[in-house]
Amino acid sequence: MPLCFIDFGRGLPYTTAFFLTESEGLMTLVELNAQQAQSLDEVTAAADASALEQVRIRYLGRNGSLPAIIKQMKDVPPEERPEFGKRVQAWRAALEAALTAKQSVAGAAKMDGNAFDCTLPGRWFAPGAKHPVSRVIEETAAIFSRLGFTVADGPDIENRFNNFTALNTPAHHPSMDASDTFWLTDDLLLRTQTSPVQVRMMTQYKPPVRIITPGRTYRRDTTDATHSANFHQIEGLYVDTKPVSLADLKSTLAYYAKEMMGSKAGVRFRPHFFPFTEPSVEVDFSCHVCGGKGCRVCKMSGWIEIAGAGMVDPRVYRLVGYDPEQVYGYAFGFGVERIAMIKYGIPDIRWLYENDTRFLSQLA
Ligand code: PHE
Repeated sequence: MPLCFIDFGRGLPYTTAFFLTESEGLMTLVELNAQQAQSLDEVTAAADASALEQVRIRYLGRNGSLPAIIKQMKDVPPEERPEFGKRVQAWRAALEAALTAKQSVAGAAKMDGNAFDCTLPGRWFAPGAKHPVSRVIEETAAIFSRLGFTVADGPDIENRFNNFTALNTPAHHPSMDASDTFWLTDDLLLRTQTSPVQVRMMTQYKPPVRIITPGRTYRRDTTDATHSANFHQIEGLYVDTKPVSLADLKSTLAYYAKEMMGSKAGVRFRPHFFPFTEPSVEVDFSCHVCGGKGCRVCKMSGWIEIAGAGMVDPRVYRLVGYDPEQVYGYAFGFGVERIAMIKYGIPDIRWLYENDTRFLSQLA
């Protein structure tokens, strides 16, 4: 005699009307529904974590009701098997969800009582790593602090005088063009270099001034593997009333090169031009990858361009109110990303800005 199935509407959605034969010991869907309702009531009634665990073992444990019911599957008539299976799985899911929900409530209640629930799973902890740009800045500051330099700061928004005029940049110099510089007003701009901090320091303080200035800089560059419209520089300035020479500049940068890139690193100067230094040089570090023999990183030259530098131009001294006859000094400016890319072997500057943890965690 087939048994009519009545849906109890307790977590088991009524899908198709169907029947289960009442053969030897085979569980009917009525019983199945009743047992599910019973199991959920037991979860609700469980007073503490151990009672809850008992419920779990009773139904889901190796010798529990659900595995026993699943074993009956082979005896269910084939045409009813899929529906029967679906019903059992739905029960299991509903029961597991109820257990988990109740467990977390029980856990929270325990915590309220200041007890530590050591059965809760641990939280995965993602360790952070310092960004290469921050690392270069911090290491550079530490190296120069050993030489008596202090860290100075200036704003990202500068005026024309500090960024260009006081740095002896001619009024119609192409770097002032709107195609190179982000102008905000006729007078204000996003600084194109950290050199305006030199001006701020010299207009504010009497020599000796011995500072380094890490900071953001902005140029209207199209982004590619080696260019970014927003990058970082570290400026250095040493001005004193006693003689300071190009040789001092060179030995200072040679010390920096060794500390930053390893004891074998050397520096070389190439003549160059900057409006605010005279003489001006471009500074190369010997290639730390091949040791100067020539490789892909240094484009076979053995040297890598790192900085601009020079002796502060007398016209700059006059523009900031120093007497060029009384002071001596040098200045230099590094690209931070450039050093980071060389030091850590980063092939594309954009990697430094994308915050892709797959890349950043490699550097941890
Ligand atoms: N400010 C220059 C640049 O951005 C670098 C520099 C700094 C050159 C100090 C000389 C002295 O290219």
